[in-house]
Amino acid sequence: MTSLNLSVKLAPENRRGLLLSNPVMTASGTFGYGTEYAEVIDIQRLGAIICKGTTLKPRPGNPQPRLVETAGGVLNSIGMENIGVNALIREKAPIWVGWSLPVIVNILGESITEYAELASLLNEVPGVSGIEVNISCPNVSAGGIEFGASPKAAAAVTAAVKVKTTLPLIVKLSPNVTDIVAIANAIIEAGADALSLINTLKGMVIDPLSRRPVLGNISGGLSGPDINPIALYMVYQVARNVKVPVIGCGGIATANDALEFIMAGASAIQVGTAIFANPNAPLDILDGIERFMEDEGVRELSELIGAAA
Ligand SMILES: Cc1cc2nc3c(=O)[nH]c(=O)nc-3n(C[C@H](O)[C@H](O)[C@H](O)COP(=O)(O)O)c2cc1C
Repeated sequence: MTSLNLSVKLAPENRRGLLLSNPVMTASGTFGYGTEYAEVIDIQRLGAIICKGTTLKPRPGNPQPRLVETAGGVLNSIGMENIGVNALIREKAPIWVGWSLPVIVNILGESITEYAELASLLNEVPGVSGIEVNISCPNVSAGGIEFGASPKAAAAVTAAVKVKTTLPLIVKLSPNVTDIVAIANAIIEAGADALSLINTLKGMVIDPLSRRPVLGNISGGLSGPDINPIALYMVYQVARNVKVPVIGCGGIATANDALEFIMAGASAIQVGTAIFANPNAPLDILDGIERFMEDEGVRELSELIGAAA
């Protein structure tokens, strides 16, 4: 048995640190709170879990239908249905305390103040190892434009969260932008420890018979294999222009996909939509990465990060 080193430090500059035993994480909104899968797969083997997007108050989500399949993926308009941060702290975090892997809470606010309040509430909660900030949310006070669509707004959210928490801070980039590198740099300047990308791409599906949009919310977020090459190129562009760790996400379904993202410069990867078809997909991907390393005689994952960049 060879000894491979797949461990990853996702927040090397952060005092509290964020050490993963391997680079395979689950993407927010596709793996619940992890607790739902604890009986189904050996979750302790995962690098980390990012839990469902969490808001200050519980949210019922968007009108049905909320999910429709596309040629190579899924379009969703879940609308951030979640139990709210207080229930998460009361009911979920105490379970995570007993787990050996880090659980990172994905947060979403409707204003900068809400993001800051969420960060402050989570800061000292045992069982919470980091925060991932979802900036793909309409900024109500700026006419509904996503926080993630402008360097200024994205940096303002990051800075507001940073002053309220010492937890490792990951900011998740929106792909629905014109210059993702400019936004990434603004976010790092504002204090992010790591970046994750990408969130879903905006899209819609129409049913010709009913002549109506299929989703109750009209538009939704596209994920799965459809978005893979777009996500890969964004990760490549961002990773070669920033100094903090980058977490790749978008249509990763196989070990090969994961290796592509790692070679594009990602220090870790997130598996999302692939979990719907196969809950064991993240662990199959981990096994595949290990096999690749053994076959190629690579002992350290770090040798592969950015190998294609
Ligand atoms: C049903 C569903 C719910 C999601 N919920 C969230 C969420 O709450 N917060 C977030 O940042 N991203 C959310 N996402 C986006 C995913 O975390 C991921 O960024 C995206 O789906 C691309 O990865 P994938 O192609 O592997 O699914 C969601 C995606 C899906 C499909």
